[in-house]
Amino acid sequence: MIMKIAIAGAGGRMGRELARTVQNTPGCVLAGGLEAKGSAYVGMDYGTLFGQPNLGVKITDNPAALMPIIDGIIDFTVPAATLDLVRHTAEHGKVHVIGTTGIDAAGEAAIAVVASRARIVKSGNYSLGINLMQGILKKVASVLGDDYDAEVLEMHHRHKIDAPSGTALMLGKAVADGRQVDLKARSVRSRDGHTGARKPGDIGFATLRGGSVVGDHTVMFASDSERIEFTHIAQSREMFARGAVRAALWAQNKKPGLYDMQDVLGLKD
Ligand SMILES: NC(=O)c1ccc[n+]([C@@H]2O[C@H](COP(=O)([O-])OP(=O)(O)OC[C@H]3O[C@@H](n4cnc5c(N)ncnc54)[C@H](O)[C@@H]3O)[C@@H](O)[C@H]2O)c1
Repeated sequence: MIMKIAIAGAGGRMGRELARTVQNTPGCVLAGGLEAKGSAYVGMDYGTLFGQPNLGVKITDNPAALMPIIDGIIDFTVPAATLDLVRHTAEHGKVHVIGTTGIDAAGEAAIAVVASRARIVKSGNYSLGINLMQGILKKVASVLGDDYDAEVLEMHHRHKIDAPSGTALMLGKAVADGRQVDLKARSVRSRDGHTGARKPGDIGFATLRGGSVVGDHTVMFASDSERIEFTHIAQSREMFARGAVRAALWAQNKKPGLYDMQDVLGLKD
């Protein structure tokens, strides 16, 4: 069956990349676009966003109108939009691939509740490299323990609105999982002024913003005598889009539930 996929955040940086990737991927077709109320893209044909002829796919601001004509939706928007959309995808039992980051704990809990009806894949990063790095970090952190101070450094483009990045938090969680501690209890998300000395076992985060950087992440483990660094550099948004489309196709025949990219790639322990 050819999967009919819509894109939420149709006119955004990821939305455009996703639409191109859906068009170029066998097994799926671009079936709709969703944008914010008041967006200049609402009512436009998706093709005009890439300077292509009309594709016959209109961009709407009404998620309810999309549900009957799609099998799934790939959503790279903002937290409020994702939390609204997930009620529609759950009600209609659709595939919902969530790339939106910066969702708070209450939002995460709301998504987990409706996942009993929708097939949701949610990840802070859809690239193969970052998902492989998670597994490696977990192993490294379990071997090194607290003797090595763990710090997560990330840089993104100047338009990014949340910090630390969803990917930085995923990588921090891999370190926490390796050490068998709770990330929230051990993370230091920023430092300013008289902070006092670093506590053993802290997992530190540092954020840089500027230019057009797609996403750079380094996780370092520093001891008195050596430093080990793992770095991932995203060179284009295309690999996020390819991962998200792969996730949508994978979820088609799965039972309702909340999955992540580790499930899609078969990387779970
Ligand atoms: N998980 C990953 O692999 C990954 C990779 C890249 C970006 N992201 C995340 O994806 C999100 C989008 O990133 P971006 O760089 O494309 O941002 P962007 O600002 O370029 O695009 C977001 C789009 O969402 C639209 N939008 C806002 N409210 C909406 C609503 N109610 N309904 C439909 N559309 C709505 C905006 O108008 C905009 O076009 C961010 O949270 C970012 O951190 C995740």
